[in-house]
Amino acid sequence: MVRYLVGEAGIRQLLDIGSGLPTAENVHEIAQQIESATRVVYLDNDPVVLLHAAALLANDKATFVADGDLREPARILRDPVVLDHLDWDEPLGLLMCGILHYILDEENPAELVGTLYRALPRGSYVMIHHLLDMEDPAVATLQDQMRGGLGRAQFRTHAQIMDLFDGLELVEPGLVLVPDWRPDPGTPGVRDHPVLQMACVGVARKTRKP
Ligand SMILES: C[S@@+](CC[C@H](N)C(=O)[O-])C[C@H]1O[C@@H](n2cnc3c(N)ncnc32)[C@H](O)[C@@H]1O
Repeated sequence: MVRYLVGEAGIRQLLDIGSGLPTAENVHEIAQQIESATRVVYLDNDPVVLLHAAALLANDKATFVADGDLREPARILRDPVVLDHLDWDEPLGLLMCGILHYILDEENPAELVGTLYRALPRGSYVMIHHLLDMEDPAVATLQDQMRGGLGRAQFRTHAQIMDLFDGLELVEPGLVLVPDWRPDPGTPGVRDHPVLQMACVGVARKTRKP
């Protein structure tokens, strides 16, 4: 998806909310391999993640780390790192990979993301990866175990995740299981890793004014 955003859609700035612990093949590495000037802001609310990321990226001139919480979108939009390094007059790529299922229904995820979407310039893209409620009693126990392991997690149905793209236009192939989103040759499929059925992904474009 990062390759699509930077390589095909021409996006040159990414805000990765819930960026997680830096590992191999990070978002900024993939993006900057395609276009070295791509600016990336990683934002997370975990102090350990922030500390590691800041240490790793200390000498990086195009990648920055911000302390923020998706449950406080207005604060994200005022954050000095976010404002200094991203141009909010130019299209952005907003990545929310593996984070929205930590936002419970009572925290109103649609309203939270809506605040961010309203601030995005037209032509921006939003990427969501979300745990999928397969509405299948056969996997309910597995979902319960995952929920327990993750501490807090809200599986959502395909329709509920679609609602989190409200006001945006999904690009092909829409909201699909992870291995089905424009797979490279040799990408493992659901048959190789059945757990891949438990999350879906989509990328959408903001084409209209807020
Ligand atoms: C499962 S990890 C995903 C990491 C990375 N995006 C990936 O896909 O590999 C979720 C990350 O979201 C962060 N997170 C959870 N709730 C958050 C919130 N409300 N605001 C900001 N970050 C949050 C966690 O600290 C964690 O680093």
